[in-house]
Amino acid sequence: MNHEEYPLNVATPRSFTYVTRDIPRVTAAQRERALKATHYNEFAFPAGMLTVDMLSDSGTTAMTDVQWSAMFLGDESYGRNKGYYVLLDALRDCFERGNDQKHVIDLVRTNCKDIDRMMDELYLCEYEGGLFNGGAAQMERPNTFILPQGRAAEAVLFELVRKILGQRHPGKVFTIPSNGHFDTTEGNIKQMGSIPRNLYNKELLWEVPEGGTYEKNPFKGNMDTEKLEELIVKLGPENVPLVYTTITNNTVCGQPVSLANLRESSRIAHKYGIPFMLDAARWAENAYFIKVNEEGCADKSIAEIAKEMFACCDGFTASLKKDGHANMGGILAFRDRGLFWKNFSDFNEDGTVKNDVGIQLKVKQISCYGNDSYGGMSGRDIMALAAGLYECQNFDYLDQRVKQCEYLAQGFYKAGVKGVVLPAGGHGVYINMDEFFDNKRAPESFAGQGFSIELIRRYGIRTAELGNYSMEYDLKTPEQKAEVCNVVRFAINRSQLTQEHMDYVIAAVKALYEDRESIPNVRIVKGHDLPMRHFHAFLET
Ligand code: F0G
Repeated sequence: MNHEEYPLNVATPRSFTYVTRDIPRVTAAQRERALKATHYNEFAFPAGMLTVDMLSDSGTTAMTDVQWSAMFLGDESYGRNKGYYVLLDALRDCFERGNDQKHVIDLVRTNCKDIDRMMDELYLCEYEGGLFNGGAAQMERPNTFILPQGRAAEAVLFELVRKILGQRHPGKVFTIPSNGHFDTTEGNIKQMGSIPRNLYNKELLWEVPEGGTYEKNPFKGNMDTEKLEELIVKLGPENVPLVYTTITNNTVCGQPVSLANLRESSRIAHKYGIPFMLDAARWAENAYFIKVNEEGCADKSIAEIAKEMFACCDGFTASLKKDGHANMGGILAFRDRGLFWKNFSDFNEDGTVKNDVGIQLKVKQISCYGNDSYGGMSGRDIMALAAGLYECQNFDYLDQRVKQCEYLAQGFYKAGVKGVVLPAGGHGVYINMDEFFDNKRAPESFAGQGFSIELIRRYGIRTAELGNYSMEYDLKTPEQKAEVCNVVRFAINRSQLTQEHMDYVIAAVKALYEDRESIPNVRIVKGHDLPMRHFHAFLET
């Protein structure tokens, strides 16, 4: 990203921040008190006492000026607010049409102020249309559901899947494989009485390239498609109701998934009549990696690649608090008349639809999140999200973001810290805690959580343990245990942090690494067996 006329060997800045927030001065003793008071549960640690908060990149984005402007156009009407049409249009641009060119403010102006156009039946049909439904209106065949965040989409989906499967096959246990389920997805699957499986390639993940540099990103987030087919054959396709792929693979170190792998997983799922679903929270970052690293994709735009990625699936859930460049938003959608619809709708003997899965999902959406036109979001948030969906397809933005992750990862690596996953993924940096502790700590000692707590206490840096503690290693079967990545994640907020923040974090982690022997192990003293325990457990060090 340099000025081509007069090249420099540093990146040309692409944006600047014009709202600032002070970081308070807090002592280690004060943080220690707060840690004790919140039972060493880092989710309960007050954000206002932190120096750098890297717990999550979800909803923490600093929005662009275009998004803030779009918020003024938010319409808070209860039924069919203006943003509903704008958001549906944006979703179809991003996930179906391969179009990254629209400006939301123009969209509102032309779509919602031109009454003649709004009176036109064709117009209503076009803008009422959900995703992947060839123009059918949401009124007739609902297949796209706005929700406040990703887990709401998962909860609506999995609750209905449980109900349908429970009625058809009472008492039966199902397995849902993925390249890597996120913790809320696992939690939702477990709560429906099913078994989540994570089928990635662990050996590939821990392989550190010579000198810490690399030529091509090898798509370490890919599904191990051999394992997938083996599992389906072993269990029988009737026991595998859905196959999932997470892009990028958050649980597996934020690593990307190639288009070839998406197509192969989709092919295998379809061979056995199983719907192929995406968890698409970081779809734009995944498309970036495909553009930069996958053969034949360099000349395609992010939008064109997104279109190809989504062409593989029968449906998807997504948290748009990540690659919606927004603070709120989620979606559940499926392909009209596709495999998901076929497998989960009920039909009369003459082939007519008795119970349409789309209508059932809509009933659930309305009973939990309000009218389908806003799905639990305010009209302002809908506009910011619609704008953000276009903003996050900007190549320079994605390039800077991924390079910021890589700067942090290389910084750790060059400081001698062991266990850094290289290359970095798209939204943060992960450290393998087994390697960090020289394989000296037992899996149930939850030393990764000890590391996270100690990083808060000493330096005011909050990370997320996504390893043995959060992923419930001790509660898993031996085969599931082998699928846990024992990592701590440093998530990078979108459009918010500078190199100064990164350098501070590198220095802190280096110092903590050198003193790693003194990092305490952790005991769970309350909430050990509860689903998603890391959000509510009490700990002791
Ligand atoms: N799927 C993936 C891959 C996610 O990363 C997340 C959230 C969700 C689903 C759930 O979405 O938060 O909007 O309800 N990940 C955040 C994180 C919380 O920190 O990685 P949500």
